[in-house]
Amino acid sequence: MLDDLLSMEDLTADHITTILDTAEGLKDIALRPIKKVPVLRGRTVCNLFFEDSTRTRISFEIAAKRLSADVINFSAKGSSVSKGEGLKDTALTLQAMGVDAIVVRHSASGAPQQLTQWVEAKVLNAGDGWHQHPTQALLDLFTIRQKLGRIEGLRAAIVGDVFHSRVARSVAQGLVTMGAEVTLVGPPTLIPPGAEHWGVAVTHDLDSVVEKTDVMYLLRVQRERMGEQFFPSSREYARVWGVDQDRLARLAQGAIVMHPGPMNRGVEITADAADAPNSVITEQVTNGIAVRMSCLYLMLGGEEVVT
Ligand code: NCD
Repeated sequence: MLDDLLSMEDLTADHITTILDTAEGLKDIALRPIKKVPVLRGRTVCNLFFEDSTRTRISFEIAAKRLSADVINFSAKGSSVSKGEGLKDTALTLQAMGVDAIVVRHSASGAPQQLTQWVEAKVLNAGDGWHQHPTQALLDLFTIRQKLGRIEGLRAAIVGDVFHSRVARSVAQGLVTMGAEVTLVGPPTLIPPGAEHWGVAVTHDLDSVVEKTDVMYLLRVQRERMGEQFFPSSREYARVWGVDQDRLARLAQGAIVMHPGPMNRGVEITADAADAPNSVITEQVTNGIAVRMSCLYLMLGGEEVVT
C-alpha cells in the first residue's frame, strides 16, 4: 500500500480508512490468551530511537512482536552514535544487516525522509522534530471513530502548545483529511504563524469553543523545547488554557477528552479531568498497538490473511 509512512500529508482518506479498518481486525488479537499471529514471521523491524520515548517505542515493539516479527531496539545512548557515528552510517549498517523496516524517532525534522534515500527497508516515522508523528494521529483517529462512530463532521479543538507539537500538526491534518472541523486553541505565542493555511480555525479563547466541541485534544506543554517564556506561569496556563472539571462539564453531549501523553497533570489537564469517564487517554494507548500493527502489516506483509 505505502512504501514508507512519513507524514499524514501523504495519506488520503482512503489510505486512512484502510489503516483503521485493518487495525479494527487486528485489535482483538490482544484479547487472545496467545497474543500473536505469524504474519510477519521472519521479518526484522528495528526501532531506531534518537530521542526519548516510553509509549511510542514500547507500542511499536509490542505491535511488531504480536505479528511475530523479530525486533531490534536501538537507542542512540550506548551505541556508536555516542562515538559520533551519523544517521547515514547507522542506517547503512542496519541495511547491511538486512532489516526490513526501520521505525525512527529523531529530533531533526525530515530525518525519516532522509533515511529513505539511503535504505531499502521501509521507514516509519515515530516522530521527527516539530514536524510529524503519523502513527499518533492514526491511533487518535481510530480512537475517535471507535468512541464517536465517525470522524466526518465532528468538531475538534486542539488545545495548547501547537507551536512545538508534531502531534498537533499530524492530528490536525488527519482530522481535516477525514472531514472534521478543527480549531486550534492556545496563547498567540504557541500557535504557529500561518496555521490558518492548515484548513483549520484559530482562537485564543478556550471558553468560546468548549460547548461546541466533540473532541477536546489537549497537548503537552513542551517545556524541554521552550528556550524562552511563552506564557506567564504554569498556574496561569492552567487557568486560561487548561481543562478542569468545570470545562469538562460544559463540553458538547458525548464529547471525549484526548491527550497523546506524557501529561503534565495540573497544567494542561487537572488530575481529576484526566481520569474522568469521558477521558479516553488510556484507550489511545491501547489502540496505538493495533494501529501500529496495521501499519507494519500493510507495509511489510500485506497479502496474508490474518485469522
Ligand atoms: C508525543 C511526542 O513525543 O511527540 N508523545 C507521544 O509520542 N505519545 C507528544 C509529546 O511529547 O508531548
